Amino acid sequence: MAGIAQNFPGAVFLFLVIIFSNLVASESLGFSLRVIPADSQESPIYRHNLTHLERMEKLSDISMARHQVLTLRSSHKKSSSWDDGKFVEPLERQAYYYVAEMKIGTPFQRVYLVVDTSAGLVWTQCEPCDQGSGCYPQQTPYFEPNSSSSYSRLHCNDPLCPLRKGQDPKFFHCVSGNCSYTYYYGFEGPSMGILSTDSCNFINDTAGYNRIDLAIVFGCSTYVRNLDHIFLEEGNKLSGILGLNLSPLSLYKQLYDKIQGKFSYCVVPFEENFPFFIHAHTLRFGDQVVLPPSSEVSSTYYTIVKGEDLFYLDLLDISIAGLSLGLPAGTFDAKRGSGLILDSSTPVSVISTKTWNNLNVYELVMLALMGHYDGDNLVRVPKKSRPEKYELCYFNRPGFTHWATMTYHFRGADYFVDAKFMNVHYAQGNFFCIALIGRDGASILGAFHMQDMRIVHEGYSKSIHFYPVNCSHDHF
Ligand SMILES: *[C@@H]1O[C@H](CO)[C@@H](O)[C@H](O)[C@H]1NC(C)=O
Ligand SMILES: *[C@@H]1O[C@H](CO)[C@@H](O)[C@H](O)[C@H]1NC(C)=O
Ligand SMILES: *[C@@H]1O[C@H](CO)[C@@H](O)[C@H](O)[C@H]1NC(C)=O
Ligand SMILES: *[C@@H]1O[C@H](CO)[C@@H](O)[C@H](O)[C@H]1NC(C)=O
Ligand SMILES: *[C@@H]1O[C@H](CO)[C@@H](O)[C@H](O)[C@H]1NC(C)=O
Repeated sequence: MAGIAQNFPGAVFLFLVIIFSNLVASESLGFSLRVIPADSQESPIYRHNLTHLERMEKLSDISMARHQVLTLRSSHKKSSSWDDGKFVEPLERQAYYYVAEMKIGTPFQRVYLVVDTSAGLVWTQCEPCDQGSGCYPQQTPYFEPNSSSSYSRLHCNDPLCPLRKGQDPKFFHCVSGNCSYTYYYGFEGPSMGILSTDSCNFINDTAGYNRIDLAIVFGCSTYVRNLDHIFLEEGNKLSGILGLNLSPLSLYKQLYDKIQGKFSYCVVPFEENFPFFIHAHTLRFGDQVVLPPSSEVSSTYYTIVKGEDLFYLDLLDISIAGLSLGLPAGTFDAKRGSGLILDSSTPVSVISTKTWNNLNVYELVMLALMGHYDGDNLVRVPKKSRPEKYELCYFNRPGFTHWATMTYHFRGADYFVDAKFMNVHYAQGNFFCIALIGRDGASILGAFHMQDMRIVHEGYSKSIHFYPVNCSHDHF
């Protein structure tokens, strides 16, 4: 395989055909990946002793951390082509909410990777990996390449080894024929190892019974340091990171043509999930993404700012309870750092407090919400009695039903957020708070506003399709 790839150094597509041809004959594939939210008891990063309220606070912390990460990643605007090596990104403490369970090798070995929708390389801690001198301790065994008959190392000449002419091999280098990496995340890391390929076992039917093996390229890390916040929890089961961004080594881009650029997810309502025996979410790829008739689906296009891995949507305006804010055209301009990012890994939506044209959209949204609820004579919760993470809270009034909704007006489609997904409810204090966070710069449409909404990414046409659906039914 490596020999053929060597003769066609630029033929990434051919290479993909070759690695897949002995596995599947069909043109396109459908499969899914189980993704476990942190608030599920099944999650390796589940915190048993948090209360419902503490969990809701944590969603806000994670969102702020992710905003910081995405903002930093979005500031890399100079590069002209994709190259993981150019992206020196921090991994923000707490910026993780989802864990993917992957089965790698023949016979498979189970690994748990934190899902990072804006990272590239997929990697896991691998033998020979000394606890103490080489890797972080993990409760599950380290991946053992020797025990997998389908494992091989990636050769330096392999098209997926980022060492080709004209690329900046910042994190990658050739060591005795092996495609080695020393991967840093800002000041954190490194994660060091050899790029490898092995088969990865995915669920390939909607009922969750059949499985399929696909070759993927991943990093087999034998030296990992300075990533304490991912690995240093007691009883840690995590062993690495699953990147899903738009760089060539991410899982999504590796499988792009086989899945015809399509993936989809559906966020199960957070409240329904309590008390936390929630089932995993399902990340669906390729043929497993099935759209209902177009009359039931709304669609808009996403834009990618050159050199970035983020999905920006063209947001024109926002309405609160059906009244539009009347924002000037171009307020959410991604090229000027004020774009709206679609990011399911951010739990709570973030609205900009300072766009490039100096608007505090967050404040305008809050004022509209205050107008609505003050107008209904609901009583605001004073600062000292409300959680510090959410700024606008009201006491419940028995029988009150006039809840405010929110609409994101995208080019070509309105995205409607039902009132029940607008607020965090605090039963103990008998009040609710608006689930929104204000931050400088970019805005983020996060998972809280994706509840019971199927979202489909269609890479070939650069579209995002969405329609309301009961996401609780989307599981195995
Ligand atoms: C929750 O558990 C963790 C570790 O098990 C511990 O460090 C932390 O102090 C606990 N928190 C509370 C509020 O009990
Ligand atoms: C795995 O294979 C390598 C090279 O073949 C060898 O040096 C090493 O001892 C093996 N490790 C185990 C655990 O068998
Ligand atoms: C890659 O590294 C391994 C040990 O880490 C070594 O045994 C092997 O010869 C190297 N080269 C190739 C092409 O695999
Ligand atoms: C899933 O993969 C298996 C093994 O390759 C295959 O036999 C089966 O037909 C596939 N099922 C679907 C629904 O594609
Ligand atoms: C969605 O389905 C679940 C499980 O069947 C059910 O409990 C829930 O009430 C449904 N949600 C809506 C909005 O109908």
